[in-house]
Amino acid sequence: MERALIILKPDAVQRGLIGPILSRLEQRGLRFQGLKLIQMTKDMACQHYAEHEGKSFFSGLITYITSAPVLVLVVTGKAGTVELVRAMVGATNPAKAAPGTIRGDFGLEIGRNLIHASDSPENGERETEIFFKSEELIGQWERAIHIWIHE
Ligand code: RTP
Ligand code: MG
Repeated sequence: MERALIILKPDAVQRGLIGPILSRLEQRGLRFQGLKLIQMTKDMACQHYAEHEGKSFFSGLITYITSAPVLVLVVTGKAGTVELVRAMVGATNPAKAAPGTIRGDFGLEIGRNLIHASDSPENGERETEIFFKSEELIGQWERAIHIWIHE
């Protein structure tokens, strides 16, 4: 099993795109394990984006991600889920993201790219722990539609 941490960033929430973006994830057949609206603290943001500390865009990134509420979401699935979600999200710069991807369909600029998704299963676990307590995550719940999505 793999876990991906997804963040609908402040621009997605402000633009009323929670529904359309969650719909895409649901329609693909992904299973949600936890979901909440939060105001990200500077501490959470720095922990989450620790790999980018020191880069030119770091302080702007922290300001952006903490500027308004975000929706944090955990998606679980079989091996390959993290890569699949990243493919749905598209390239970091929406101007270069392929049509059909979330960034390619809804965004224009790298500093307003709407959504974060974990880039590896290891980061999926690490990032989930930043935003969710274990009791906030639903266990391996079975959906009635499971057999119509998976063989
Ligand atoms: P994310 O972590 O948010 O899912 O995005 P990503 O993997 O596609 O891209 P990453 O390299 O991890 O960058 C993290 C976020 O920093 C902002 N960024 N700005 N101005 C710039 O050159 C620049 N580069 C990155 C974006 O918000 C990006 O999503
Ligand atoms: Mg990243």
